[in-house]
Amino acid sequence: MIVLGIESSCDETSASIVRDYKILSNITISQEIHSNFGGVVPEIASREHQKNIIHVVNKAIKDASIVINDIDGIAVTYGAGLKGALLVGLNFAKGMSIALNIPFIGINHLEGHLFSNIIQNLKTRFPFIALIVSGGHTQIWKVNSIGNYILLANTVDDAAGEAFDKGARLLGLSYPGGPEIERVSKMGNINYIQFPRPKVRESKYNFSFSGLKTSLMYYLNGIKKNDISKNMKDIAASYQEAIIDTLLNRLELLTKDEKIYDISIAGGVAANKRFREKSEELSKKNNLNIYFPDFDLCTDNAGMIAMAGYQKIKDGHSSNLTLEVKPNLSL
Ligand code: KG4
Ligand code: ZN
Repeated sequence: MIVLGIESSCDETSASIVRDYKILSNITISQEIHSNFGGVVPEIASREHQKNIIHVVNKAIKDASIVINDIDGIAVTYGAGLKGALLVGLNFAKGMSIALNIPFIGINHLEGHLFSNIIQNLKTRFPFIALIVSGGHTQIWKVNSIGNYILLANTVDDAAGEAFDKGARLLGLSYPGGPEIERVSKMGNINYIQFPRPKVRESKYNFSFSGLKTSLMYYLNGIKKNDISKNMKDIAASYQEAIIDTLLNRLELLTKDEKIYDISIAGGVAANKRFREKSEELSKKNNLNIYFPDFDLCTDNAGMIAMAGYQKIKDGHSSNLTLEVKPNLSL
């Protein structure tokens, strides 16, 4: 069975073709225009999706060496995300489903992130612990089986990706901030500043990142502009380390308490190499199996949506044309 996946929930327009758990193509256009504004501008995102969607779909079909009539079903993100952005993908999928007379299925974006690792690494390893760590979410789930998810931890304010993005902005780096902070942190001294590893009083598992960003702001306000650029790599490395330590601390606590030693880490921040390196250290220390998706499946992409859709269509599920976008959808 061949499934076309479409993803347009934020600032990536993406299309992918999968055949029986294998990704044949995964084409993404990242809307770089937003870097001029320091963050995603919703109206611009919708307009860019409209401009790009036909191109990514055509290229995904071409690169998979199939023709449009080979497609058996369509999977599309219908939430969570920006309303206008989601509408572009969902309406496109509905139109194609009518024109080709094939089923389509709405996919939860977060479930897509889970699938980026399920298919590749964890198909037969239920239950496992999943950390989804992106620009919009920082959550830890217990995955009992496909469709059976229990929330174990959440952020009470900013997501970890947001902490990277806001920190980068304070440092004068461009959007998205995660890759920028990672880039300038190379060779930086992680112990240059002791940023806090914030805890949440109500739950030892939950995350809070807004205080960390504030402490970076206070630190930067207290030093000369010249010293910021001179010590950029050390400041960025110390800040990055605080985010990563916080993420891994909660994972360590939860794997011990839940007695589950298979772990999936997915979402944009999972592309961070220092994060992967420190996860490796933790897995050695505590005898864990930590899985990361391939790099191109970490940040938003249609491959993960197509894989989730393939599984669901194969299991007999589909959506009908009354399906609406759900900007606040949770898993
Ligand atoms: O999953 P994603 O593409 O979109 C959301 O669903 O939010 O994640 C985007 C987030 C951004 O906050 C970005 O700064 C962060 O992931 N990110 C990274 C890296 N690459 C992307 N954070 C740290 N290091 C990276 N290499
Ligand atoms: Zn995402």
